[in-house]
Amino acid sequence: MEDSELVREAIVAREGAYVPYSHFSVGAALLDADGRVWHGCNIENAAYSPGNCAERTAIFKAVSEGVRGFVAIAVVGGAEGRPISDWCAPCGVCRQVLREFCDPGSFRVVLARSPQDMRGYLLKELLPMGFGPEDLRRADDNGEADAQ
Ligand code: THU
Repeated sequence: MEDSELVREAIVAREGAYVPYSHFSVGAALLDADGRVWHGCNIENAAYSPGNCAERTAIFKAVSEGVRGFVAIAVVGGAEGRPISDWCAPCGVCRQVLREFCDPGSFRVVLARSPQDMRGYLLKELLPMGFGPEDLRRADDNGEADAQ
């Protein structure tokens, strides 16, 4: 799938945003290794902290359905009810959640102001020296080696 098409999917996903507090709506479209697209939007809450970002909505939907391999995510966001005019980059928490399930050296994050105006990054560029599941596995392996 072309990046511009994934961006169009993110623009559609943004329409589902529930943002009565920030009035900032975000849409994400996550492409899995089988070519399926998972949509996510931000969902806010009167108690504020339970709110969820668009990127995490998309990845939690996919992971909860058993998907583990991902290729790219497109993210768009801006003032509710208005066309997108600026870049919307994933927050730190979303970068870390992506890091759990996506290969930082190949997974791409596509930011867009329109399907014609995009910027692509590798996850490792957005989360340098990230901490992931392999770090815990490595620590486990070292422990086992020491015990022998
Ligand atoms: N938000 C996202 O959904 N994704 C991002 O990449 C940045 C921020 C949401 C969280 C909150 O609902 C609103 O945008 C304002 O921060």
